[in-house]
Amino acid sequence: MTKYVITGATGGLGSEVFKYLLKFVPASDIIVSLYNPSGATPLIKESGVEIRRGDYGDPASLDAAFAGAHKLLIVSYPSIAYELRVQQHKNAIDAAKRAGVSRIYYTSLAFAGDSVAAVMRAHIDTERYLKESGLTYTVLREGIYSESYPLYFGFFDPAEGKEEIVVPHSDGPVAWVTREDLGEGTAKIMAQGGFENEIRLLSGSHSITLSEIAEKVSSLLGRTVRLVVVSEDDYVKANVGKPGPRGEEEFLRGWATTYKALARGEAGVVDPLLQEVLGRELTPFNDTLKTTLGLHGSILKQYVK
Ligand SMILES: NC(=O)c1ccc[n+]([C@@H]2O[C@H](COP(=O)([O-])OP(=O)(O)OC[C@H]3O[C@@H](n4cnc5c(N)ncnc54)[C@H](OP(=O)(O)O)[C@@H]3O)[C@@H](O)[C@H]2O)c1
Repeated sequence: MTKYVITGATGGLGSEVFKYLLKFVPASDIIVSLYNPSGATPLIKESGVEIRRGDYGDPASLDAAFAGAHKLLIVSYPSIAYELRVQQHKNAIDAAKRAGVSRIYYTSLAFAGDSVAAVMRAHIDTERYLKESGLTYTVLREGIYSESYPLYFGFFDPAEGKEEIVVPHSDGPVAWVTREDLGEGTAKIMAQGGFENEIRLLSGSHSITLSEIAEKVSSLLGRTVRLVVVSEDDYVKANVGKPGPRGEEEFLRGWATTYKALARGEAGVVDPLLQEVLGRELTPFNDTLKTTLGLHGSILKQYVK
């Protein structure tokens, strides 16, 4: 009997992993390690799985949460604060080592291993720490979420009615993929095994540039929306002072590095692995675009912190 411990099961990706893992292995073999156990979703509660408290910032809680785990999924910490993030991941890896976990699965991100994107730095350092830990690991570089396109597409909010979508440095291709497809693939890989000590990319099956998104959005909304590439300073000027972290210069300068990575094609790599693992076509980007037009505020609130 293999015991699975899943972190982040209340989140966008982890909840999908959990939903699919329930289909692949008995609920009695699954334990969820929640940052906030009182926030367990109805599916978690109804499934009858064991719920434990595990806070990446509290190593003692992780010792208890990971006890007895054979396979452990570490969902990356939801923040772009580099040092804090790396520390939270190290705490989880150290606890897994103390708990004698046989296999760690870590959700990394789909930029390059020598990325110039600030958001990838914590993942690269975590991947290195994991490799040096001596634990058996599988790093899954989870593709850029289709649902998160507004972040890349100039914090796009259709309610603002803007014609020009301002981004810094460059446009570039992104192999967008839904969190549900990633969740199903991640759960399947965990249940089936394989990929020992490998770093694998789970990407969408096509790459789409931001200019192409502008065309799609224009046609769906019935009005012109254009991508305009400006200097980093002009990008900062266009956003600074807006509500929340998105309006802060430090955040904006860090996020601007993402577009340097897009220019290098870092996020546009298409890997057939996810489609092979799922044995079906992936959800088209257009489907997500249609269903998410109108929900952008919640995405910005979720990730720009
Ligand atoms: N591939 C991409 O395009 C992309 C985009 C954005 C982010 N990401 C990264 O991928 C991760 C998963 O994405 P997501 O959409 O599932 O994010 P999410 O919906 O924000 O979920 C994050 C999860 O982390 C949990 N968490 C928060 N603080 C924690 C702590 N101190 N210790 C342990 N767990 C904690 C949350 O629990 P609560 O619900 O209790 O707060 C939640 O379950 C993110 O955390 C982020 O690092 C990837």
